[in-house]
Amino acid sequence: MTQRPFLRILPLLLVLLRSLPIFAAPCTPVGLQCEHLVNPLGIDAPAPRLMWRLDDTRKGAKQTAHQIYVGTDSMAVSQGKGSSWQTAKLQSDSQLIAYEGKALQPFTKYYWKVEVWDKDGKPSASSVASFETGLMHSKNWQGAWISDISDVDLKPAPYFRKAFDAKKKIKSARAYIAAGGLYELYLNGQKIGNHRLDPMYTRFDRRTLYVTYDVTNQLQSGKNAIGILLGNGWYNHQSTAVWFFDKAPWRARPTFCLDLRVTYEDGSVETITSGKDWKTALSPIIFNSIYTAEHYDARLEQPGWNTANFDDSKWKEPIMRAAPSTNIVTQAVHPIRNVETIPTKSITKLNDTTFVYDLGRNISGVSQFRVKGSAGTILRLKHAERLHKDGHVDQSNIDAHYRPVGTSDPFQTDIFILSGKGEETFIPHFNYKGFQYVEVTSNTPINLVKENLTGYFMHSDVPVVGQVKSANPTLDKIWWATNNSYLSNLFGYPTDCPQREKNGWTGDGQIAIETGLYNFDGITIYEKWLADHRDEQQPNGVLPAIIPTGGWGYEWANGPDWTSTIAIIPWNIYLFYGDKKILADNYDNIKRYVDHINEQSPSGLTSWGLGDWVPVKSKSPVEFTSSIYYFTDASILAKTAKLLGKQSDADLYSALATKIKKAVNSKYLNKETGSYGTGLQTELSVPLQWGIVPDELKAKVAANLAKRVEADNSHIDVGLLGTKAILNALSENGHADLAYKVASQETFPSWGWWIANGATTLYENWPIDAKSDISMNHIMFGEIGAWYYKALGGIKPDPAHPGFKNVLLEPHFVAGLDHFEATHNSPFGTIRSSWKRVGQGVSYSVTVPPNSTATLKLPGASAAQQLQAGTYQFEVK
Ligand code: BGC
Repeated sequence: MTQRPFLRILPLLLVLLRSLPIFAAPCTPVGLQCEHLVNPLGIDAPAPRLMWRLDDTRKGAKQTAHQIYVGTDSMAVSQGKGSSWQTAKLQSDSQLIAYEGKALQPFTKYYWKVEVWDKDGKPSASSVASFETGLMHSKNWQGAWISDISDVDLKPAPYFRKAFDAKKKIKSARAYIAAGGLYELYLNGQKIGNHRLDPMYTRFDRRTLYVTYDVTNQLQSGKNAIGILLGNGWYNHQSTAVWFFDKAPWRARPTFCLDLRVTYEDGSVETITSGKDWKTALSPIIFNSIYTAEHYDARLEQPGWNTANFDDSKWKEPIMRAAPSTNIVTQAVHPIRNVETIPTKSITKLNDTTFVYDLGRNISGVSQFRVKGSAGTILRLKHAERLHKDGHVDQSNIDAHYRPVGTSDPFQTDIFILSGKGEETFIPHFNYKGFQYVEVTSNTPINLVKENLTGYFMHSDVPVVGQVKSANPTLDKIWWATNNSYLSNLFGYPTDCPQREKNGWTGDGQIAIETGLYNFDGITIYEKWLADHRDEQQPNGVLPAIIPTGGWGYEWANGPDWTSTIAIIPWNIYLFYGDKKILADNYDNIKRYVDHINEQSPSGLTSWGLGDWVPVKSKSPVEFTSSIYYFTDASILAKTAKLLGKQSDADLYSALATKIKKAVNSKYLNKETGSYGTGLQTELSVPLQWGIVPDELKAKVAANLAKRVEADNSHIDVGLLGTKAILNALSENGHADLAYKVASQETFPSWGWWIANGATTLYENWPIDAKSDISMNHIMFGEIGAWYYKALGGIKPDPAHPGFKNVLLEPHFVAGLDHFEATHNSPFGTIRSSWKRVGQGVSYSVTVPPNSTATLKLPGASAAQQLQAGTYQFEVK
């Protein structure tokens, strides 16, 4: 009798003991992901991708085999039984596999685990992970699309509500919500989730996104209420600017469709749906524009509007509407969030009614304002990136393309009208801005302090996967500023700037891809953006310059130097993740795109494009740079065809690439001198970067480039296309010291010059006092953020073994820098490359993740060496 309790806890003790390090297997599969997300909900893919990493620090750690178990019973899966899919023990070192089991059913949670065999053939299993399917097919929607009215010009944002009774005990509940526009979902008064600006921007009339939430804990047996607040977003763009989003073909009053699927303890399922039985009324948000700002009148608040006992007898019936598109798909993507809280750094009182807040750094996002005041007080919060000499905020660098009709929609200016009821808080629901300063004016004298305003840095909340540290503080600050601009321009699609445009400029997107991927786990965002590309591509292959677009951008700026996103982004995702899906998904689109240029430019040369945008001083010929991008696309297409087993396409497009290369070289290359065109920095570096220079002339071209740069006082003379190439072209061709010198300059023109002048983000123009193109938060000169990893850390993906299955390591211990360290969390684990000067030599340390290898080329070494997984230390003299 007395032994019984002990016997009962014995298994528990054993489990606990096994989890202690002493019992831990030397190799464990960890970090399980499905569709590149952790335990996701709302998976619609019929063959979701499953992936894992190994936790194994031993030298030569590797996976020799694996076996997958998938099923709906977590216990059975944990015991090694997969009723939906159970592979054989596969002799494979792959850590990514697409599901191939029984057809997945909608609304179903699947559990899975992987068992791996390590380098010695010893097995060990992961803990159990899960993924849950969503609707999987549009026909599974039950709710109706509803709205409050059809007037697109009506300003206030609508509320919707429905109360219902849950008659039985609830086991679990999921909310599925699709919207044209933006939504916030509430259950019993509580906001669901911490996403912001959901769903993400798509070409709404071609693809509409829905979002899934587990709302089990927010529901109760008995009375419940659902509340929904709808915003305009890009769906109903009321503000007017040069890109005509107010004329977008999809434009309509915001609308949504909701299925709340409740599973009761007895196994029965009830779905509460959007429909005619809902109620609607206007909210206190009296105006909202994704582009400009939000206006809020707290006097119109209706406390308890989203709770069960609220009296909605004065509310109206909603109207039924068509769905924005018939293609309603899941948003299985890292969402936008308020990622960082930025307290006000300082406040300046200009007079009794005017105060200027300074966050101390430039961000994308919103400010939250918390204040006490009398009813009817009108506060205007004007956001800007810089100040006039008199201390007022200056928007002249960011309102250039705004074309307001009247004065009721001031640029980046929230309007907050107080109810007078105690402390009140305002934060925009459906807008974001780019800013560092906020000028707050009141229509009546008021006393404000620093604490009234808090900034929130908003962006797609992609996990951080890279880190750089060096002995040069300016270098570290440039890296930080680059990441700030990258993130400020990531809102479910990459943008050019968070203030003036918020446009998905393709050129800026392709330039920043490597910087993005070395530093952040961006695959879900890019897969989504490439789906946006497919939605926008014309049947003839042409893509618009901004994606998504309401129609603008097919006439200007959409040549290959910008819209090569269609090839360059999938290719880089493949290199960084070793995942072919994005190449397969976009193969026909890349092909149509390349075929179109081929038809237009049979000679192999094309002048379609913008060229080296916003250069320091010299402008290279557009035909030269555009043709090199065209060559890059044809080459990527040829390589992709080969990967996908399309041999005749591979032959066709590699012949095309060769033809383009010849055409460029015969027109622009002087073989005698090893120079291109007139020998500008961009003209010499772009062909080196993209592999157009004949092998035997590379050193000569690079030497000419180095001479050119030195003649330019070791400063850059490039624009957008040249910045992508200049540092790489130097460091990869024997001039790493010079590349570092250029990258770390602190005088004009350079990245460091911006930093020396207080920049916390990257700018759009080299001169700080430029008269136009002077956004202070652009990513288009941001390739330097990738160059740190590639040149100083020397970490590069190997195209022959992508996803860092083999890491190409070639660090450069550049003159003038005493220490550098880069880490990148690859699909196999953390790659670390770190060096430090010690006496006359350099101490170099490197970590190669488990199940991966590296080809290391140390400076001065005659040959490369092959490393297995593990940590190594080298002393280089
Ligand atoms: C954007 C750029 C973009 C360019 C193309 C500008 O207005 O801000 O970043 O690439 O237009 O012309």
